[in-house]
Amino acid sequence: MKEYLPSRIFVSGTDTGIGKTVVSAMLMSSLDATYWKPTQSGLDEETDTQFVQRVSEVPESRIIPERYRLNEPMSPHSAADIDNVKISLNDFQLPEYDTDHLIVEGAGGLWVPINWKESMMDLILHLNIPVLLVARSTLGTLNHTLLSLEALRNRGIDIIGVVMNGPEHEENKKTIEHFGNVKVWEINDLPDINKNTLKNTFNSL
Ligand SMILES: Nc1ncnc2c1ncn2[C@@H]1O[C@H](COP(=O)(O)OP(=O)(O)O)[C@@H](O)[C@H]1O
Ligand SMILES: [Mg+2]
Repeated sequence: MKEYLPSRIFVSGTDTGIGKTVVSAMLMSSLDATYWKPTQSGLDEETDTQFVQRVSEVPESRIIPERYRLNEPMSPHSAADIDNVKISLNDFQLPEYDTDHLIVEGAGGLWVPINWKESMMDLILHLNIPVLLVARSTLGTLNHTLLSLEALRNRGIDIIGVVMNGPEHEENKKTIEHFGNVKVWEINDLPDINKNTLKNTFNSL
């Protein structure tokens, strides 16, 4: 997979809870990279940034603080309303980094709003950064994944490829490669998520 990866990578997904943070942690464990989650919604449980730092065991210098930390585990636009915060695209600037890669993790999927005018897709365009799309491997993934790829293409956003996360599904992989015209990597459910299992997974791709 390494040879396909540009310096800046926006990890998006077809859904929330689809594996964006796990994929980000895999990249952080395996590459010389810096991680940034622009908007974190929900602070009661371990945040994505904390998870990535814990499992990939990187020094704090390779973690950029979130631009927005919102209390409620909701879409950024709603969580911001509740916290009385106004999110604007111009609040986000690509951070400086001195590693080979910068891994940026989105919130939810592409059409998730960041305010009442703009979405994650606008943020990706604003940051001008290629997308690695995380999708589930199982039933229901074809529509979500092909719609997401079409939306990215319609806006001229570079697509690195799709990571299909979950039980192996050769038919879905083949179908997404065919109709999505895209590179697909598969990662399976890991019984234990740690630096070593993530590194081994990356090395097998
Ligand atoms: N390949 C995997 N193996 C084991 N657990 C996984 C895997 N992918 C995701 N998970 C688990 O599923 C949940 C959602 O994944 P996460 O990466 O947080 O999704 P997202 O960032 O898209 O919301 C987490 O509890 C995560 O640990
Ligand atoms: Mg996440």
